[in-house]
Amino acid sequence: MPTAIRAGAVQRELEALREQIRRHERLYYVLDQPEISDAEFDALMNRLKGLEKQHPDLITPDSPTQRVGGAPREGFVKVAHSAPMLSLDNAYSYEELRAWDRRVRELAGADQIEYVCELKLDGLSMAVRYAGRHLQLGVTRGDGSVGEEVTANLRTIPSLPLSIPAAQLNSAKLPHDFEVRGEVLMPTRSFERMNEERDRQGLPRFANPRNAAAGAVRVLDPNITAQRRLDFYAYFVLVRGNYFFSTHSASLQALATAGFKVNPNWKSVHDIAEAIEFISGWEQRRQSLPYEIDGIVIKVNGLRAQQELGFTGKAPRWAIAYKYAARAGLTRIEDVLVQVGRTGKLTPVAALSPVSIGGTTVTRATLHNMDEIARLGARIGDWVQVERGGDVIPKVVKVIHDAEHPRGTRDFQMPARCPECGGNIVRGDGEADHRCVNASCPAKLRETILHFASRGVMNIDGMGEALVGQLLERKMVRDVADLYSLTLDDLLKLERMGEKSAANVLAEIERSKQLPLERVIYGLGIRMVGERTAGLLAAHFGSMDELMIAGAEQLQQVPEVGPRVSESIREFFDEPGNHRLIERLKAAGLQMRGPKKQRGTALAGKTFVLTGTLARRTREDAKALIEAAGGKVSGSVSKKTTYVVAGADPGSKLEKARELGVQVITEKELEGLLNC
Ligand code: IVH
Repeated sequence: MPTAIRAGAVQRELEALREQIRRHERLYYVLDQPEISDAEFDALMNRLKGLEKQHPDLITPDSPTQRVGGAPREGFVKVAHSAPMLSLDNAYSYEELRAWDRRVRELAGADQIEYVCELKLDGLSMAVRYAGRHLQLGVTRGDGSVGEEVTANLRTIPSLPLSIPAAQLNSAKLPHDFEVRGEVLMPTRSFERMNEERDRQGLPRFANPRNAAAGAVRVLDPNITAQRRLDFYAYFVLVRGNYFFSTHSASLQALATAGFKVNPNWKSVHDIAEAIEFISGWEQRRQSLPYEIDGIVIKVNGLRAQQELGFTGKAPRWAIAYKYAARAGLTRIEDVLVQVGRTGKLTPVAALSPVSIGGTTVTRATLHNMDEIARLGARIGDWVQVERGGDVIPKVVKVIHDAEHPRGTRDFQMPARCPECGGNIVRGDGEADHRCVNASCPAKLRETILHFASRGVMNIDGMGEALVGQLLERKMVRDVADLYSLTLDDLLKLERMGEKSAANVLAEIERSKQLPLERVIYGLGIRMVGERTAGLLAAHFGSMDELMIAGAEQLQQVPEVGPRVSESIREFFDEPGNHRLIERLKAAGLQMRGPKKQRGTALAGKTFVLTGTLARRTREDAKALIEAAGGKVSGSVSKKTTYVVAGADPGSKLEKARELGVQVITEKELEGLLNC
């Protein structure tokens, strides 16, 4: 076949695959109505990736494979907004809302005004410009007139389309150039998962999903944004900086037709009384939403009326945010209990004399950790103020007493052993939290198994939440080693488990025994030991036995292992329960040895900074090669940098190198140093 015809066929297949994938992405992420399984979706994506790898010249920027691309950047560029991004005035009572409504009707000269009620999503607002149907620019709110350009990060949000088919824009009656404004948020579940992962890595937790989302949007490396599982809900559309439809409800409908995710919980109402009904209806229901909201936004629906009302300072007169109150109550701490979380973190929880707050009886409130107890100065027997915010768990916010604690109060002490399993409790230097280090502690087991079985670890396909839930409920598994003694009969006792799926799961478990030592180390869930550190440990020690007996000094000879990581590894192997677990994994036939890899020393003590596009390899590969030869790679140029490797279109790092007199070399010269 002539090349041109073959290329044409490939091009058609690529386009067809991309169309199909875009459709399924929309069904899954925007409409929440998937038609195919995750595995089928992955298969389509892999086929596309494979074809694009063979034909890199045919990759388009709006291909679904191109959400995460490029290397981390060095800073954000400021961009002026096409029209100011305003904030909202707040109301805290129905009375304030009624007063606002009276003013609106007076200024608009109308007896009746139609409003649209929307959830006030607790995220951060964003402006996203589309040019010629393609996502062109994403900008944060900033100070309202100028924001920061975060396009590469926004592209990784799966519910935000990279391009919109012309047909969809036509039916939405939208031109090909327009701007969407909306809210980026992190669903509660992603937030919890992320904090658990940060616990494992010994990183500080994010206080709430909003901060976590803000952090994820403002990181310099889009790969990190991609891992944070963000969502985007659109609520305005602008064309040339102006509103385009004659009502707000029409804009919302057009956005949904075009393919954006629009929060379905909006309602147009005829008067403020109906708006108040909407608000009180969501006051309790909001607990069941998969993301946090901090109030309800009420907007005048008609564009004409909006224009008549105009703005005051930084907020429109035609909209207002009703904020749900953080509800509080006074009560006494009767006792302090200790809860063991899914990551092994021990949380002191106050057992309270029952108190009614916002219509719910509260008997427990978190005290977070020992530092927080000290900060509050709380003792058992104290009177305290308890708050229920947007989140479900009430917290103690203040101790109430004049000068001294009432008589009969006493201090709370953290127990020396885990209340769930009797395992060792540790508190690292400078850390606020106490933790149980027994990998088989029942409180942690669910998370430990899910981590152990997950794709990047032991890759046991089918061992998901549903199956693990059943195995734990029926007490069929007490630690990860028990997975290896499950039988067909065991699995057939479970719900929704036929012969075929049971056999598949068993085959997957069997197959996992072949995975290399580094995966087993990673699978143990040692805090601060992620995939990369596990790999370095396996390469350095070559066996689980050597790793288990290594002292702090030996551990710190491994690249990237410092005092904190080595301490965490020691704590793990000092727990006798973990020794028994490893013995049982060994008996089950998992890989406990691996090749010892000596690191090169040719580049030892030398620090490299890479800038620009390299011609013969990705930056990641260059980094791996340098590290394998004993060198270090850093993200920024300083006096300590030995070489800056400059590829095509180098960035400001090159200037910095010249300024500091750091030696600049080419990719070829780097190869010379690496002998390749
Ligand atoms: S409208 C001019 N609608 O709340 C109107 N904002 O306090 C400004 N927000 O910066 C935005 N949900 O980040 C609007 N349904 C919603 C919203 C919403 C959340 C946020 C947005 C805004 C802030 C103002």
